[in-house]
Amino acid sequence: MFDLDLTEEHRLLEQTVREWGAREVAPHIAELDRAHRFDPRILPQMADLGLLGACVPTEYGGAGMDYISLGIASEELEYVDTSLRVILSVHVGLNSLSLLSWGTEEQKRRYLVPQAQGEKIATFGLTEPAAGSDARGIQTVAVKQGDRYVLSGEKMWISLADVADNFLVIAWSDMAKKRAKDPSGLSAFIVERSFKGFSSGTLTHKWGILAGNTGFFKMDEVEVPAANLLGREGEGFKIAMFALDQGRYTVAAGATGLIRACRDASVAYAKTRHTFGVEIGQHQLVKEMLARMEADYQQSRLLWLRSGWMKNIGRRNTKETSLAKWMSTVASERAAGDAVQIHGANGYSDEYPVGRYYRNCKGAVIYEGTREIHALMQADYLLGYRGDKPTRCELPPYRGQPDPA
Ligand code: CAA
Repeated sequence: MFDLDLTEEHRLLEQTVREWGAREVAPHIAELDRAHRFDPRILPQMADLGLLGACVPTEYGGAGMDYISLGIASEELEYVDTSLRVILSVHVGLNSLSLLSWGTEEQKRRYLVPQAQGEKIATFGLTEPAAGSDARGIQTVAVKQGDRYVLSGEKMWISLADVADNFLVIAWSDMAKKRAKDPSGLSAFIVERSFKGFSSGTLTHKWGILAGNTGFFKMDEVEVPAANLLGREGEGFKIAMFALDQGRYTVAAGATGLIRACRDASVAYAKTRHTFGVEIGQHQLVKEMLARMEADYQQSRLLWLRSGWMKNIGRRNTKETSLAKWMSTVASERAAGDAVQIHGANGYSDEYPVGRYYRNCKGAVIYEGTREIHALMQADYLLGYRGDKPTRCELPPYRGQPDPA
């Protein structure tokens, strides 16, 4: 049965994250954004709320929530600032859920448990300076030498690059397949920051998500134990795409939160600002923009909820998640542009939050699959060029609330 009602647990989580964000982050976010400063004190607080292990089962140190809860948390976090949601996207969505599905028991104990408890922070490394949308175009290599792989290459546009302890890295382990760009030559590795030859840096010239850490990392002949190969050799591309199914879900729900933030700020402003003798909310063209925001919010929410529901019952949702990510991020760009418009000249000042929403929303139309990549995927599904046959490892379905005992 498809139930659109949020459960008691969902409502409680929504309220808890909302209150925490309003109390602990919202009062400082404009200042952090202006200073281009990531505040690491946010991480232990998110861990205390259970968010860093949100839908990781309790047996692996997580909070044992369902996948809808991950969406709810993403929406509430991005309502405050995109940088908060990004933490969830890379740490839980891209990294931890990949370990949960593809990891060995030993890998889960060693890496997933401390990540779920927030003792270690994790991210994901696919994109490179010369390869984003064309994921097969990456150059990083992993050469097998005895009981280890030697990784060399550079990853770029990595959220939390300078903050994370653990990195899920995609690299070519078969050089003949690399030359042929055959994705079955790619493998996935768990790399620790402490491994010799690893270095990272922060990108200082970006103009959005300024309270978030975005950077690069380099691997100069980093020796990675063979035990840190995630999945089998040659499964790296599938793992990367699987990871993106989870990351894109959090991006979709987050963009929905940003639309809501634009809507709420615009409604409040429309009721206080006067022109031509009336509140600007009385003008039909302003009403139209507000109504569009509400429609975009509701549509985006339904799309990510469907995706989360499919995850809960263990059904492959690559197509639905791609659609949710595409539609909600494009809608968030429209909502943020209109929110600035409604605020007029004030929208152009960082005394109001809508300028920050406008800068922050654009990234999500690009990362985790550009607008164009998702359009292409949807068309390919329609044309029958793309299918969603099950892979060896899928996201485990949600098995119900953990036993309170
Ligand atoms: N789950 C599991 N397996 C999958 C999969 C999925 N979601 N998607 C594809 N696969 C499998 C396919 O089944 C296929 O396996 P078989 O050969 O056994 O059938 C294999 O992977 C190859 O799949 P495709 O042929 O579909 O691959 P493609 O080359 O056509 O993919 C593409 C093209 C969709 C454009 C893909 O390259 C893509 O999604 N590009 C965008 C990459 C992207 O989103 N990058 C963002 C990086 S993350 C980031 O930016 C955030 C950060 O801060 C770290």
